[in-house]
Amino acid sequence: MSDPTVSRCADDEAVVDRAAQVLATAIDAARAVRGAAHVALSGGSTVAHVYERLSALVPEWSDVHLWYGDERVVPLDDAESTHRLATEHLVAPGATWHPVAVELGPEGAAEAYAAELGDTVLDVALNGMGPDGHTASLFPGFPQLEQEGVCLAVRDSPKPPPERVTLTLGKFNEAHRILLVVTGADKAPMLARVLAGPEPEVPASLLDRGKLEIVADEEALNG
Ligand code: 6PG
Repeated sequence: MSDPTVSRCADDEAVVDRAAQVLATAIDAARAVRGAAHVALSGGSTVAHVYERLSALVPEWSDVHLWYGDERVVPLDDAESTHRLATEHLVAPGATWHPVAVELGPEGAAEAYAAELGDTVLDVALNGMGPDGHTASLFPGFPQLEQEGVCLAVRDSPKPPPERVTLTLGKFNEAHRILLVVTGADKAPMLARVLAGPEPEVPASLLDRGKLEIVADEEALNG
């Protein structure tokens, strides 16, 4: 079992630079090799600046499909919406956005998204990690972690808002590349467990290690 690639960054700024560079490289490579790029975006507070930096690195976005690794089931113009976060920070002229049909509710939205994404293989998935080791909306001890398929509904998420949809672990691990961005001392204990090896209690540690690049700051790595 190969180990994930780890990029140790001095601070948030360096994390943003490195993460945006990895995404831009993956997009260019996918377009060159496969004629299109399928990217799964993430929510949370860490990624907003990554989207801004990525906008500067990729001037032209035709043939780029922007999907969501997970989404909060709130209106798309809600402050909690990941689609709103991404569209407010990522300038991607010519890209094809694939927002989640949140109006259908968690189960309906998950089913519709699974049908829309289908067997499309993601070129790169951008994921964050919570202090509890969750990634996307795959939470420790929740049934979705073991479920197959493409996209699943989540109710009573421990991280607000409670209703979400998430791609499955299998769909993330099918991707060509997985980028995990982690900053801050509060995530250090779980990041150490991710680096130590796969553990059922730590969802982020179950991401395919051969495809995984972890971009983290000193605080998260030195905990
Ligand atoms: C979400 C995310 C979630 C997030 C982590 C890290 O919508 O909340 O998909 O998995 O990436 O919780 O969030 P922070 O970057 O805010 O710490």
